[in-house]
Amino acid sequence: MATAMVFLLLVLLSSAAFTHSQPFSRTLSKADIGLENKKEKLSHLHFYFHDIVSGPHPSAIRVAAAPTTNSSRTGYGAVVMMDDPLTEGPDIGSKLVGRAQGIYAASSQEDFSYLMALNYVFVEGMYNGSTLSILGKNSVFDTVREMPVVGGSGVFRLARGYALAKTIMFDLKTGDAIVEYNVYVFHY
Ligand SMILES: *[C@@H]1O[C@H](CO)[C@@H](O)[C@H](O)[C@H]1NC(C)=O
Ligand SMILES: *[C@@H]1O[C@H](CO)[C@@H](O)[C@H](O)[C@H]1NC(C)=O
Repeated sequence: MATAMVFLLLVLLSSAAFTHSQPFSRTLSKADIGLENKKEKLSHLHFYFHDIVSGPHPSAIRVAAAPTTNSSRTGYGAVVMMDDPLTEGPDIGSKLVGRAQGIYAASSQEDFSYLMALNYVFVEGMYNGSTLSILGKNSVFDTVREMPVVGGSGVFRLARGYALAKTIMFDLKTGDAIVEYNVYVFHY
């Protein structure tokens, strides 16, 4: 009798769970996610990226490496975590527009090329709190490097585009660098 009661209870509980479950997938209209009156637009962002590896407060720090990294000509296997300031002008004292937070990792045995996996986290004006996600290859000695914008959040929800990076200063002694970025992005 008790067993039957427990069984009945389980059946009731599981059917209650089923009535609250949602289908795994369904098709929506743009209106269902608040995009009915919104047109996709193209924005251009321009800023400078400061990669500071020297001094007492580096913004980019090596967090991992392979046993062979130090003997590799290209530093293959080094993994660096960055929280680099992004500014409006080339001077680090100019207005802060965001930060580049993520990882770059030496991913080539042949050239000085990095896997970039990072978020631009913006703080400026209407972009404050919005992010763009970058995933790409950065051959640092090429004059201009192109990296895909693979998505975004906030103002940049559903974003896609590309970033062009150009090094404007590289200090051979310290390893610090300033990189100019032009980012072209479709979003709503
Ligand atoms: C590689 O060099 C760095 C300094 O540049 C040092 O901190 C690290 O211990 C070295 N790693 C190995 C495995 O020798
Ligand atoms: C950005 O938003 C944060 C949190 O809402 C706020 O504290 C900060 O003052 C804002 N920054 C700017 C530059 O508006």
